[in-house]
Amino acid sequence: MARAASERGELVLRRREDGALELRVNGVFVMDDQETSSEELLASAALEAVRRPDRVVVGGLGLGYTVRALLADSRLGEVVVAEIEPDLVSWMGSGLIPSVLDDRRVSVVVGDVRAVVTELPDASVDAILLDVDNGPDFLVYNENSAIYSSSFLAVCRSKLRDGGVLTVWSSSASAALEAAMASVFGACKVTPVPVRLQGRDETYYVYQGGS
Ligand SMILES: C[S@@+](CC[C@H](N)C(=O)[O-])C[C@H]1O[C@@H](n2cnc3c(N)ncnc32)[C@H](O)[C@@H]1O
Repeated sequence: MARAASERGELVLRRREDGALELRVNGVFVMDDQETSSEELLASAALEAVRRPDRVVVGGLGLGYTVRALLADSRLGEVVVAEIEPDLVSWMGSGLIPSVLDDRRVSVVVGDVRAVVTELPDASVDAILLDVDNGPDFLVYNENSAIYSSSFLAVCRSKLRDGGVLTVWSSSASAALEAAMASVFGACKVTPVPVRLQGRDETYYVYQGGS
């Protein structure tokens, strides 16, 4: 349906033979619109944990499922989405991807979520949700490895208000991420999410730490 080249490589949006909308980066499957429960759980886990989701930051727009799940909560004040690929934002703006951009509570910053989070004032957001790769062990871009380091996780913690949470999506269990989250937050809640992916049973994971 659409193809774009960025400095990080090739981004492809395609309609599969089974009718699914699929996003690929550099030939690697990133996600489709058939199995989105874990992307939605990333949002609901954060929404359940915080008292008031006045301001939420999401890393990775993708096909918009995490953002849409946030918007379904009438308590949500605003969501700032950091998305590194400008063409993906344009594809959603033009309707190639069902849009979440019309909701006045949504704003998109085109850029690296690491920079976007680092520039936030301290103690200014209620939740940060990260879903920018297939997880720490299956990166879309090598530079993203820094996102799962305890130093960046500590930056995330410093941007959270009291009672705020960080939730991180992963396609595989990661003992290293769990340890890094626990070292920064004192504890890490791990939620396995059983999913059916193109005929196969898989398990995805959501990692959560609270301030
Ligand atoms: C798996 S998708 C996100 C899926 C999303 N949670 C959803 O519900 O559709 C990952 C997204 O993160 C973006 N991305 C990758 N690295 C990034 C980074 N460092 N900063 C911001 N966005 C990034 C990709 O372009 C892609 O749109």
